[in-house]
Amino acid sequence: MQKYFLTTPIYYVNDKPHIGHAYTTILADTISRYRKLVGDTSFFLTGLDEHGLKVQQAAEKNSKSPQDHCDGMTPAFLNLWKELNIDYDDFIRTTEQRHIEVVQHILSEVNNSGDIYIDEYEGWYSVSEERFITEKEVDSGQFGDVKKLKEKNYFFKMSKYQEELINKIQNDELKIQPESRKNEVLSFLKNNLSDLCISRPKSRLEWGIELPFDKDYVTYVWFDALINYISSIGFSKDSDKFKECWPADVHLIGKDILTTHAVYWPTMLMSIGLPLPKRIFAHGWWLTDSKKMSKSLGNVVSPLALIDDFGVDAVRYYLMSDMVLGMDATFSSQSFEKKYNSDLANDFGNLVSRISKLIENNFDSKIPNFSSNESDLSENYEHIKLSNNLEELKIDKIINDIMNFIRSINIYMEKNEPWKLVKVDKEKAGNVLYHCAESLRLAAILLSPIMPKKTEKILENLGCSDKSLKWGKLLPNSSLKTSEPIFPRIN
Ligand code: ME8
Ligand code: MG
Repeated sequence: MQKYFLTTPIYYVNDKPHIGHAYTTILADTISRYRKLVGDTSFFLTGLDEHGLKVQQAAEKNSKSPQDHCDGMTPAFLNLWKELNIDYDDFIRTTEQRHIEVVQHILSEVNNSGDIYIDEYEGWYSVSEERFITEKEVDSGQFGDVKKLKEKNYFFKMSKYQEELINKIQNDELKIQPESRKNEVLSFLKNNLSDLCISRPKSRLEWGIELPFDKDYVTYVWFDALINYISSIGFSKDSDKFKECWPADVHLIGKDILTTHAVYWPTMLMSIGLPLPKRIFAHGWWLTDSKKMSKSLGNVVSPLALIDDFGVDAVRYYLMSDMVLGMDATFSSQSFEKKYNSDLANDFGNLVSRISKLIENNFDSKIPNFSSNESDLSENYEHIKLSNNLEELKIDKIINDIMNFIRSINIYMEKNEPWKLVKVDKEKAGNVLYHCAESLRLAAILLSPIMPKKTEKILENLGCSDKSLKWGKLLPNSSLKTSEPIFPRIN
């Protein structure tokens, strides 16, 4: 059976993960959980990029061997994913044998097919980007530590695939989203593509995968890293598993690594003779004080501290709702607290308490009976457009729809005043409260990919284990449990 295969970038282990890394990973987790909610089987891959100069330098700084450094850094990622409740299906490290073998296999094949040649090259090299950069890029001053290098290296005939790549991007066979990123790639491709230097002499960099056809060289870290997307799913080894997943449904990335994913990777796949991923989605950056949050700038926010202060689900909610598709977003604790108080504590949390209290006090903590299936609420529920927005990965829109639905429950309560109604017509009040409680159940299920823990609690309190998205599955007469406020206000 075909699976919905989605990936995050594999993160460098030169430093601990920050909110930016957490964001992409939560996004993938959320999409994967939504896919499952609508009945698909998804396969969610994440992992670590462990080779290359950056990692070698970080190891040297810590006076460790590169492998020890990588082994020492891995728990920081695994632990954060655990704290963030990330339900990945596979976690790959590029120092694993299963990955190294596939990289070497591919290098041999591409070499045998004539797509690799050796040449002497002189140019500017950016350490932070781990690649040769153009004069223009050097002049921009954006690439930090640059140096001139002249060396013999192996090149991949990337330019050979330029026309084919342009066609596939133009006709959306490889869909690059958002549209602005697609245009960015297409305009980059208006210039002649150069071939890609895919080796590093061991004399300069030892930490990498040895070229199978020249033991004096290691593989360029990007040529190695991108292959994780297929080495993980058994390319050239487990054809059944591979067929279930490839082509990937979406590679989720930040806009910082668009060229490597939208140009290097597809041309590599063309050379290997594999279909291209269906979609590359490049999200914007989390900024602090209008600068990109980054390890090298040192302006990072620690996700662990936030989880400690506000709980994991609030962190997930904030990150998923506050970044609009493809745009940058500014992280600040003020905006975090504001969003938390208005959406979670007020709109959602208060509603949960209010409805529970009314049922507790007037219906002996039993879900009341309904006298009619129709209400404003069952109608409003139909307005939540999950499938379309999920297809387009518009998670912020999905949340917006659900929050509007939740607000409409509040409005429905104000309109029908069950606290007054219960004194004159108990059955009618019961009907109103049933509709409110059933709406809460559906809202909780719909928010469960964003906030798995809190929504589980709400469902448990409603005494309902039915995760069906069909209206009317909450059973009258089932017992309500009361609990502490789900989202206590922060001051
Ligand atoms: O680039 N805002 O790894 P990396 C949003 N190893 N997202 C951010 C972010 C920010 N401020 N900072 C980082 C690499 N990210 C390579 C990838 S893939 C085959 C190899 C996220 O550790 C975002 O997803 O620098 C970005 O693309 C990624 O982390 C870069 O992580
Ligand atoms: Mg980076």
